[in-house]
Amino acid sequence: MIIAVDGPAASGKGTIARSLARHYGLPYLDTGLLYRAVAENVRRMELNPEIEADAVAACDFEDALLDDPVLRTDDVGKMASIASVHPLVRAALFHRQRRFANQPGGAVLDGRDIGTVIAPEADAKLFVRATPTIRAKRRHAELRDNGSSVSLDKVLADIRARDLRDSTRSAAPLVAANDAALLDTSFLSIEASLQRAIELVDRQVALRAERDAYRS
Ligand code: CDP
Ligand code: CDP
Repeated sequence: MIIAVDGPAASGKGTIARSLARHYGLPYLDTGLLYRAVAENVRRMELNPEIEADAVAACDFEDALLDDPVLRTDDVGKMASIASVHPLVRAALFHRQRRFANQPGGAVLDGRDIGTVIAPEADAKLFVRATPTIRAKRRHAELRDNGSSVSLDKVLADIRARDLRDSTRSAAPLVAANDAALLDTSFLSIEASLQRAIELVDRQVALRAERDAYRS
């Protein structure tokens, strides 16, 4: 079973995808980390993420980089959104994500283009969203807990800029797949979001099984 979870920054997709993986006993891949690793590698190599050839050169990173806490910072997230615009960067990371999705038994992946590009055949697809203000408040609270004094206005402006860049790029833009179930977490607690996510996945899997049985 392949489960695709997509959505914008701080919508709750990571929390939901990790918990779906636990619930169904599947391995989990946070694909945003791959783009974050490219961004951090661009910085270390003193290259420019806006130049496609520079960003491509940074795609060949050591796996150990994926465990570096620096990848979780907002600055790296912003750089990742700049580097991920390039089609050749997306192509360089494509096979790794495909392989993960296609492993025996299945997997849960979260990102921006899992249901549309990486695993369009997924058994269940969720598009997780929440209003920009609520997402900014969540990110702001996380940053505050980590000792940052960045203002809520700055976090909101960054979220809006990242949404715009991710949704308007021509290569694999952030958009819900036609067959994705929408899950708006704006006014849901984490627990309620998880419960709803499981209901939506179970329903999609049951519908698919019924359709396959009817066809055979
Ligand atoms: O956790 P958050 O949503 O803030 O970010 P992320 O999922 O770690 O992704 C960081 C950036 O990588 C995003 O803003 C996207 O530009 C890019 N990304 C992408 O293009 N495709 C993916 N499948 C995952 C991330
Ligand atoms: O992966 P993504 O960037 O979409 O978001 P996340 O890291 O799963 O969630 C962002 C923040 O929102 C985390 O601090 C979650 O605990 C919180 N959250 C929430 O307050 N309510 C929800 N229904 C889901 C997540």
